[in-house]
Amino acid sequence: MPTGASRARPGPRRPAVPRRTPLLLRRATSADLPLLLVHCRRMWEDIGGRSRAQIARLMPVYRRWVRREIAHRRFLAFVVEDPTGRVAGSGAIWISPVHPRPGRLLRRTMPYVLSMYTVPEFRGRGVASRIVRTMVHWAKTHGYRRIYLHASKQGLPVYARLGFVLGREMRREW
Ligand SMILES: CC(C)(COP(=O)(O)OP(=O)(O)OC[C@H]1O[C@@H](n2cnc3c(N)ncnc32)[C@H](O)[C@@H]1OP(=O)(O)O)[C@@H](O)C(=O)NCCC(=O)NCCS
Repeated sequence: MPTGASRARPGPRRPAVPRRTPLLLRRATSADLPLLLVHCRRMWEDIGGRSRAQIARLMPVYRRWVRREIAHRRFLAFVVEDPTGRVAGSGAIWISPVHPRPGRLLRRTMPYVLSMYTVPEFRGRGVASRIVRTMVHWAKTHGYRRIYLHASKQGLPVYARLGFVLGREMRREW
């Protein structure tokens, strides 16, 4: 997930999908990998601030990384689609390593939300919210006490509505 997101580009001018279209959420399979890569690329494009060349260079690296993390059972994703299989959005969880600290001696991993993307025609109808709620449920049922992410400008209100809070993380850049 991005940090310090800059202005998002407007999505294409296609008609919104009727709100009554039912949407189904499912766990992604390895067959969804190409879709997840497309959504990752579009997410970075929509967030802005990165050149097309930078994003293009990212994709093969990200693909190899995702495949490796899936192989180590550290990556899972969810897809929302309509009954015809038209995809509305997706999002992923990376089970990231964390250092030991008081109260965290044995479990040294933490779920991290990344690559959240909703297809423009499906935006504003709860697709991302639904995916994040499912992720929170997944994290709770797997014994985690928190889940974290870096929010883009568009993502921030969505996560805030779902109870995500800004922490005390600091950084210095050069
Ligand atoms: C950010 C992004 C994933 C949000 O996706 P989305 O599916 O439109 O998000 P949601 O529909 O769940 O929430 C968006 C708004 O719709 C509203 N909404 C409409 N119908 C809703 C419903 N049935 N349930 C929940 N929210 C609904 C929400 O209130 C929310 O409003 P808010 O932003 O004022 O809080 C999407 O805009 C996107 O892909 N952006 C580009 C890439 C990006 O920034 N990704 C996030 C990286 S951190």
